[in-house]
Amino acid sequence: LNYLTPKSREEVLDLLVTGLKRLEYRGYDSTGVAIDGPDNKSIVMVKRTGKVKVLEDAIHENFSGGEYSEPVATHVGIAHTRWATHGVPCERNSHPQRSDEANSFVVVHNGIITNYNDVKTFLAKKGYEFESDTDTEVFAKLVHHLWKKHPNYSFRELVEQAIQQVEGAFAIAVKSKHFPGECVASRRSSPLLVAIKTKTRLATDHIPILYGKDAESGKPQELRPHGQTRELPVLPRSDSTSEFMPLEEKEVEYFFASDASAVIEHTNRVIYLEDDDVAAVRDGTLSIHRLKKSLDDPHAREITTLKMEIQQIMKGNFDYFMQKEIFEQPESVVNTMRGRVRFDSNSIVLGGIKDYIPEIKRCRRLMLIGCGTSYHSAVATRQLLEELTELPVMVELASDFLDRNTPIFRDDVCFFISQSGETADTLMALRYCKQRGALIVGITNTVGSSICRESHCGVHINAGPEIGVASTKAYTSQFISLVMFALVMSEDRLSLQQRRLEILQALSKLGDQIREVLKLDSKVQELAKDLYQHKSLLIMGRGYNFATCLEGALKVKELTYMHSEGIMAGELKHGPLALVDDSMPVMMIVLRDPVYVKCMNALQQVTSRKGCPIIICEEGDEETKAFSARNLEIPRTVDCLQGILTVIPMQLLSYHIAVLRGCDVDCPRNLAKSVTVE
Ligand code: G6P
Repeated sequence: LNYLTPKSREEVLDLLVTGLKRLEYRGYDSTGVAIDGPDNKSIVMVKRTGKVKVLEDAIHENFSGGEYSEPVATHVGIAHTRWATHGVPCERNSHPQRSDEANSFVVVHNGIITNYNDVKTFLAKKGYEFESDTDTEVFAKLVHHLWKKHPNYSFRELVEQAIQQVEGAFAIAVKSKHFPGECVASRRSSPLLVAIKTKTRLATDHIPILYGKDAESGKPQELRPHGQTRELPVLPRSDSTSEFMPLEEKEVEYFFASDASAVIEHTNRVIYLEDDDVAAVRDGTLSIHRLKKSLDDPHAREITTLKMEIQQIMKGNFDYFMQKEIFEQPESVVNTMRGRVRFDSNSIVLGGIKDYIPEIKRCRRLMLIGCGTSYHSAVATRQLLEELTELPVMVELASDFLDRNTPIFRDDVCFFISQSGETADTLMALRYCKQRGALIVGITNTVGSSICRESHCGVHINAGPEIGVASTKAYTSQFISLVMFALVMSEDRLSLQQRRLEILQALSKLGDQIREVLKLDSKVQELAKDLYQHKSLLIMGRGYNFATCLEGALKVKELTYMHSEGIMAGELKHGPLALVDDSMPVMMIVLRDPVYVKCMNALQQVTSRKGCPIIICEEGDEETKAFSARNLEIPRTVDCLQGILTVIPMQLLSYHIAVLRGCDVDCPRNLAKSVTVE
């Protein structure tokens, strides 16, 4: 929403499209935008199936020059990139969705409205005809219906009424031709932020929340960046004070976005909205409103200054974000440890959980919960956590954990591991455990994310923004974070000091060792040339490296669409061995650790079935190499950290196979980076 400098519609479209490009990794099967029409009394929409580039081309073709290049003082535009949940990807189903043919109300939406069928039936009875298969369309039509019923309501009130009627998850932004220059946005369980750009520094660092029903309280107060103050309204509850803190600035640009990367090139000042906040902009004024106030609700939403840099979300010299992120790992793992691990004194401080360590030490068990790659980081570190904490450690997939209604107790400590901090299954599992009184620890890469905010304590993994849909550097940083936690938990255990020292020393060398592993890149590329036309790839290992097998197979599946399976080598003889013959590609991880002999057994079982395994082994291990068709040698490190070095060749391999197969590395089909729907 631009009230800052006059912009042409062309510029507004450019700004929206660039924002969409930054968000494309979250979903990319169709896109769309809505802006004010040339007369300012209508809304123009452009929608396309496919990636943002297709939309961009259509815009350049149809919306350039003439009236589109004339500057206008204020402007509101909304745009969306979609990852289909309801209805196939096509123009009709892409967002913005609209209330009627006149585009009275247009809506972009992330999430799922679970009761959309009920709302649809209700609206159909009122004469509404639906043109898409989406759940979102019901919202646009619902707002329209409410507008007809309550012609005196403000735009914000209409949206506020509508969100009371819908169930499920949403981050929603609404624009209307009846309310030019205004935009209303709200969220429940899906992320949404407001970013504020002004010419000078903002005069306040928070925005008051306004509570209560307008009908009872008069119009709520709004934050006026124009420096105009109005009197505080009489709010309906005695405890609902909200200090009025106007911004001094006269000119402002607001952005609503599901992710800071869409707006970081414009401003680093953002407010993370909470569930059921309704944020409205009118006449350049932002207000945040909530219908109800509970006792512990805050009076204001803080304006956070983000540290993210635009370069961090640019590809630089790399062909793909994923490639860049793989090659960033020597630095990202060090960033995870920075300021936390003191190698001179062999001590570790995790500021975000240190006050809770005594409580954690008294717990009944540790639960590690996540999805996808984040889940694998829990599998990778479970053994070390068991060893150093001497506590039972359960590792759970969030979806399955919820399906089972797993018993949770007040003295459980539950870790929620999530790169985005927004994964719906993980967030639901968090809320489930919190309700049952467990201590909630968040391990996320996204400051200000829902999981961050809803945890009692936690660790930011500090890997930097991860854009490639397939997670790479977040995995190794999650791994290190959990290792650091295990070290903190065992600080005062005399019998474990030798082991801790060994791990600390290994951690200090890790960055350089990752650099060594990355030198395998061209060798891995050669390997990829042998493998990319195959249908399947089996990846076997056990002990500390089983997680690498699961994670490697996930990378291969999601990026290359080839079948791949991570196999626990101990289970080989119980089934998977039947898959092995001279044509089945097999990779095996065989390192000189406590399961070496057992791995060698598995290796021999494979070679005696004419299998020709590619082996990941330690540098100079001639004996093991003798059993391999081809091999990748990695530097030696302590057993519990090997998984960090063994996963990197698998990341590289999946990357190269994907490139050779012509797959879109950063945006694999059917997948999204941040899955905010259950
Ligand atoms: C999606 C992504 C995966 C990711 C998983 C969990 O499925 O495609 O790469 O591992 O979500 O995401 P999170 O943000 O919770 O780590």
